[in-house]
Amino acid sequence: MARILLGVTGGIAAYKAVELVRLATKAGHAVRVFQTPASLHFVGKATFEGVTGAPVLVHELEPDPSRGAFPGAEPPHHDPISHLELVRRSDVYVIAPASANTLAKLAGGHADNMVTTAALACTAPLVLAPAMNNHMWTHPATQTSVETLLRRGATVIGPDAGELASRGEWGAGRLAEPAAILAAAESALEAPGRFRPRSLDGLRVLVTAGGTREPIDAVRYVGNRSSGRMGVALAAEASRRGAEVTLIAANVSLDPPEGVRWIDVETAAELERAARAEFPGADVLLMAAAVSDFRPAEAGSGKIEKHGREGLAIETEATVDVLGALSEIRRPGQTLVGFAAEHGEGGLVRAREKLERKGLDAVVLNDISRADIGFDSRDNEVTILTGVREASVPRRPKSEVAAAVLDEVEALRAEKVRLRP
Ligand code: CTP
Repeated sequence: MARILLGVTGGIAAYKAVELVRLATKAGHAVRVFQTPASLHFVGKATFEGVTGAPVLVHELEPDPSRGAFPGAEPPHHDPISHLELVRRSDVYVIAPASANTLAKLAGGHADNMVTTAALACTAPLVLAPAMNNHMWTHPATQTSVETLLRRGATVIGPDAGELASRGEWGAGRLAEPAAILAAAESALEAPGRFRPRSLDGLRVLVTAGGTREPIDAVRYVGNRSSGRMGVALAAEASRRGAEVTLIAANVSLDPPEGVRWIDVETAAELERAARAEFPGADVLLMAAAVSDFRPAEAGSGKIEKHGREGLAIETEATVDVLGALSEIRRPGQTLVGFAAEHGEGGLVRAREKLERKGLDAVVLNDISRADIGFDSRDNEVTILTGVREASVPRRPKSEVAAAVLDEVEALRAEKVRLRP
């Protein structure tokens, strides 16, 4: 899925840009449209707004109601100069149809409307689909503009030869077929060294990983066997997909993935404190940590001596269910994923019960009765449960399981956006 910014300029072929948007959205791309004032004579904003499901911008000073977000993505949490934010987020900028006037302005570096301003500000590949009268196309002025733009690295698709819009005219000037323009945009994305679309750009993801340790005395603790591998794999994958990731790591001795903010904690109480501080600013919570459900009621400050003790009974008290507590203060738009370590048969039923009881969007279930997967292993095999789906991910390296979990998060968030009025 790519984020395609489409500039529509004035010309009869503007109506074919509607078909281009339709094909692009059908292929799974997110599209936002800028129009020049002249193009409004040919196709109204409402048509493009209908097919993209997002506002169309015409004037440079016009604020974007979507604050620079593509359909299906979250707007940024600051108040950006919205058209520039949109330009920054695009993976490819297609101008179709590109009129002779716009080509000349682009070649000259003019920025007098949203379409030309965006072209100057955009660092994504530029794809131009010219359409005009054949004499305008073959005019040396237009040809010089096109040569300049090609030299600067733009892709130019078409125009095709054939019957032109004005009656009886024939020649080169027809807009390339929408499918061919889309293919040109997709291959501009594939070009080596080009910026690749990143599906979680702009999203803030909070991950917890590892296992908490609850002190019995100054040297001993009640802990668990979680290594943190699953949580670290999730953090790495979310960061690779463009998210801003914070990882709360409970006793994890693995290397931090690149670009991930890492917060070390030891006990359930420390994890709770860090999670409560970070959660309000997160869009997604992936609660992979194995949090102790109980802790010694009184941890001694020294070391308990064995001398004089036949059997040692440790009184425990319950810890806070961090995930349950966060779920209670969740705001709309947050996605919460819990993990359930279940033993053998009935796991699915218990995991589904957790999904409902803790008010989660998804639960990742793994069967801890198996020695070859899960705790401290490089592989995992899970079932991802949501309110409407149940997907089993067969035994795979944890990095691939992480990718499957994040695919589900993306699907859940896309569904939520579609459900919004
Ligand atoms: N969790 C939590 N705080 C706790 C305990 C668990 O946030 N004190 C989170 C875990 O990070 C995990 C999910 O809750 O995402 C697991 O749910 P839980 O009900 O604790 O299940 P288990 O501990 O796996 O199993 P059980 O309750 O059956 O012992």
